[in-house]
Amino acid sequence: MSAPNRSYDPVGVAALEPQAVGEAVGQALAAIEAARDLTELKDVRRDHTGDKSALSLANREIGALPPAAKAEAGKRMGEARRSVNEALERREGDLAVERDLRVLREETIDVSMPTDRGHTGGRHPLTTMMERMSEVFLLMGYEIAEGPEAEAEWFNFDALNIGPDHPARTMQDTFFVDSAESGVVLRTQTSPIQMRALLERPLPVYVVAPGRVYRTDELDATHTPVFHQIEGLAVDEGITMAHLKGTLDHLATMMFGEGISTRLRPSYFPFTEPSAEIDVLCFLCRGESVGNLGSPCRTCGSEGWIEWGGCGMVNPRVLEAAGIDPDVYSGFAFGMGVERTLMFRHGVTDMRDMVEGDVRFTRAFGIEV
Ligand code: DAH
Repeated sequence: MSAPNRSYDPVGVAALEPQAVGEAVGQALAAIEAARDLTELKDVRRDHTGDKSALSLANREIGALPPAAKAEAGKRMGEARRSVNEALERREGDLAVERDLRVLREETIDVSMPTDRGHTGGRHPLTTMMERMSEVFLLMGYEIAEGPEAEAEWFNFDALNIGPDHPARTMQDTFFVDSAESGVVLRTQTSPIQMRALLERPLPVYVVAPGRVYRTDELDATHTPVFHQIEGLAVDEGITMAHLKGTLDHLATMMFGEGISTRLRPSYFPFTEPSAEIDVLCFLCRGESVGNLGSPCRTCGSEGWIEWGGCGMVNPRVLEAAGIDPDVYSGFAFGMGVERTLMFRHGVTDMRDMVEGDVRFTRAFGIEV
């Protein structure tokens, strides 16, 4: 029998000696501690735990030990590798936190710094709202009609069947130009454009008239002496109230979204018969806040509906005053407040914001040009 072949069946391997392992671990720990960032740590990990690292090479030698020495060397290597790996994890965690903090610091933006970017300005939200509403009608084939803001009393009142004794004519509501006898008023509504359109245009007439109107109200959260309305008028053969309802529902859907309809409540206006108030379903709660104390709705005050304007079938007397035969033609008309629409569509609670011209208010609507 030959002597043991020492190169294949060694009794001990230098690299697995406690001192050599201890040194390898010591070097690894020192390198880990010295790594200044995650990139450096990656190199340290490769150098000290990778395939060619001292610890891996030593580990491979375990198989060459005599069986009796294997367990002890295995334990020693296991502990060594564990302590290096744990140190790597810890350092990696610390360096990641450091990196995050550094990124946060470097990417900090001082929002209070002055900017040299100029604001191009944009149109007032009331203007864009009027356009948006008008557009719904333009797409249905309506035309835009206009009239003067300083309007003949006759167009503003008489032609609309508002007699001389009607309360709306008193000084309380109406701004007279020069004197009450001048016959000229600042129009209190866009409805005088109805008569102007009927006199100026051939039949059938389909018009919308957005515009500014005036009333002697004090400026407060819910009133303003200058505001805007949009008027609609359709006069044709065979027009019924069903057409009016369908048209208003379409406008409501286009302004507030799918499923938002209108409801008509009986009312009185001298220039329509029958007449109705238009309510629009609250687009926020969709009526679900009614009687539901647990989730009140601020937009509609838990009413479920919001008052939007007035409407009705054009009074035959108005048609007659325009020289139109009410036995052949009929029509519907409506008018609603643009400020109101903006208020509940955008949650504006104070009318003064809409007239004071503070760009901090208008800027919130973006710069639609
Ligand atoms: N002009 C009315 C107002 O200012 C609103 C109105 C009601 C307009 C009925 C209409 C209508 O066209 O048919 O209160």
